[in-house]
Amino acid sequence: MAEEVPILEADSLYHVYESKAEEGNVVALRGLSVKVGKGEAVAVIGPSGSGKSTLLKSLGGLMQPTAGRVFLDGSDLTKLEGADLVEHRRKTVSFIFQEGNLLPDLSGLDNVMQPLRHAGVSAPEAKARAIAVLERLGMTERMRALPEQLSGGEQQRIAIARALITKPKLILADEPTGALDPFTSASVLELFRELHEEEDVAFLIVTHSRDVGDFSDRSLELRDGRFVAQHGEGVELDDLAQNRELLVDDLGTVSFPPDILLELGGPGRYTVESLEPGRITLASEAAAATAAAGNSRQYVANCPACGHEYANGDANRCPDCGSSRPKQ
Ligand SMILES: Nc1ncnc2c1ncn2[C@@H]1O[C@H](COP(=O)(O)OP(=O)(O)OP(=O)(O)O)[C@@H](O)[C@H]1O
Ligand SMILES: [Mg+2]
Repeated sequence: MAEEVPILEADSLYHVYESKAEEGNVVALRGLSVKVGKGEAVAVIGPSGSGKSTLLKSLGGLMQPTAGRVFLDGSDLTKLEGADLVEHRRKTVSFIFQEGNLLPDLSGLDNVMQPLRHAGVSAPEAKARAIAVLERLGMTERMRALPEQLSGGEQQRIAIARALITKPKLILADEPTGALDPFTSASVLELFRELHEEEDVAFLIVTHSRDVGDFSDRSLELRDGRFVAQHGEGVELDDLAQNRELLVDDLGTVSFPPDILLELGGPGRYTVESLEPGRITLASEAAAATAAAGNSRQYVANCPACGHEYANGDANRCPDCGSSRPKQ
């Protein structure tokens, strides 16, 4: 049977922000690959500046990556342009950004209705559907206000309603619950869960929240523009070493998360001590050299009993007094 086409697939994505400033160019994505299956929920975790927002924008076709390819529901986004790109995105994907999601001149309700109107849904039906979603998010009282008259969390809920209203195949969300209190955040996740379980909507969600991690089928750890590891259902945000699998890509690249690299002995040269399918043992060249150096320093230079100065060829017993040569 042919493998099902993933809803999202990215191949060796690179993104460079060009800058004339002193710091020069910033490489935000470094050969990153990812696949999200139809109806799958995947979380992306990683420190500030690791490339999470850059990744979401590239995956959703809002930004052209410097190199690499993105397939959204089977179509190569990097080959689509203009109206075709807009249409393919509209049919497939919704976004929830960290900020700037809403059209400033439209009320909350009109913002939520807008994607349905674009898809040709009549005004009365679009309004009824928008109000139903806004109700779920506790936003009906404030839905006639303009975005600038709403709090950050309220704006976020309008943006979430707007993203969910079309029941897209994929939702790309950047910290969607970041600005919300725990209660509102739980109702947002409940809505996500319903769409995920009942409508088979796929999610790729950037998050620092344990609850979003629990909602997701798996979590990917992003460091310096590359996925370095994957966690199964749920993720221990305080202790990423738990339940972590390292990723090796098609090119054979593996990047160690910083905590593992530190424990391993840091950057340097490693020899392969043993290798069998599914198992590899690395040995640090530096550690071997230190051990070797340690061995050569083991013996004292002068006999502690008579002061004889050991020469290179001397045995480990003093040729003058017969004392054994101690270690340092
Ligand atoms: N427009 C830009 N011009 C130049 N550099 C940029 C631009 N946008 C982002 N960067 C740089 O690219 C890198 C990745 O940024 P990105 O916004 O993707 O990080 P992030 O993981 O989303 O961080 P955060 O958790 O703080 O939102 C950072 O080093 C950032 O400074
Ligand atoms: Mg970001």
